[in-house]
Amino acid sequence: MVSPVAQLTTRLAYGATQLSRVAWYVGHGEIMRRLSQRVRERDGEKARPKPQTDRPVPERRRLFADMAKLFQQDLANVEAGIYPLPADHDGSLLKLLRRSRLFFEDLPDVHRRRESGEKRQVFTDETRGKRPAYYLQNFHFQSGGWLTDDSAQRYDTQVEVLFNGSANAIRRQVLVPLREVFAGRDQRQLKLVDVGCGTGRLIDFIKQAWPRLPVVGFDMSDSYLTEARRHLKRWGWLNLVVAKAEAIPLPDASQDAITCVFLFHELPPKVRRKIFSEFARLLKPGGRLVIVDSLQLNDEPDYNGMLQRFPQNYHEPYYTSYLTDNFPQMAADVGLTHVRDVNAFVSKVMVFDKQRCN
Ligand SMILES: C[S@@+](CC[C@H](N)C(=O)[O-])C[C@H]1O[C@@H](n2cnc3c(N)ncnc32)[C@H](O)[C@@H]1O
Repeated sequence: MVSPVAQLTTRLAYGATQLSRVAWYVGHGEIMRRLSQRVRERDGEKARPKPQTDRPVPERRRLFADMAKLFQQDLANVEAGIYPLPADHDGSLLKLLRRSRLFFEDLPDVHRRRESGEKRQVFTDETRGKRPAYYLQNFHFQSGGWLTDDSAQRYDTQVEVLFNGSANAIRRQVLVPLREVFAGRDQRQLKLVDVGCGTGRLIDFIKQAWPRLPVVGFDMSDSYLTEARRHLKRWGWLNLVVAKAEAIPLPDASQDAITCVFLFHELPPKVRRKIFSEFARLLKPGGRLVIVDSLQLNDEPDYNGMLQRFPQNYHEPYYTSYLTDNFPQMAADVGLTHVRDVNAFVSKVMVFDKQRCN
């Protein structure tokens, strides 16, 4: 039984950190929109045609109400003991300001790419053949694609601005289905891989919940892994390895859990299937796969128009096919069972299990 004082302290601490994060990133979003408007006016650019959709687009008020529900759920998970009061580890004010500067400095280039449709700047003689062609693109029109240190240091600000400061709270929803399969087991004897781990923000929350769980993070970007190493340096029982999700250098049936956040919408449909088959190979019988990615069409019908518009604003070449792809079928095709989907604001948590042998 938690004392009322302890409960109040938790709520105050949670509210103070999460509200200030939301204010910080919503503020960035506001400034970004104003700057973009000013550049258009200065350059006399014709307004780009508004992204098209004939489906409903939620009002800002509705979005904020749904975001508040996500934060309520996040706090409820903490109070239920599913994971500890989170530390977002955004860094000192100086570091935050440096990241802000990096973010704002890049906006004119992002703006130019969006206007001109230039999206393959990272596909060069130097990079060609070193990574798959689908990967060598300026996703989101960002400078450097996935390939530079600056891009890796800007990424978390960009994602949090896009999600109004809720990206970490979305990532933490992965811990709920993990707790179900880890409860009562010795964490040191378990194994988890995070695929497409990027800058390591999910791994940080996994480690806050299970500090001695052996974790390996895989990503195709050296630069993103360098940033992840910096962010995660206080944790042990952890390896970060450059590898592509289609061919993970680990033995069959070696993992108790696999996590994968915000990767699948950036993959061509065929690659999604290859990676599912790789996940099925890696999982032990009884193992669990947890994917977090964007909502798909009709998961939240009032959002359908917003989902349709998203790839018209950001370079997301595979997002439209993602919106209607059939994940339960993809899982069944490789012998995994779809357990459930749970919406988390503009994202959802998809849970799959590999059956135990009889
Ligand atoms: C949108 S980011 C998501 C990063 C992180 N999971 C998060 O929570 O923010 C996609 C990441 O997947 C990586 N990636 C994309 N395709 C990949 C592939 N086929 N294999 C491994 N990593 C990949 C990129 O380098 C990038 O770091």
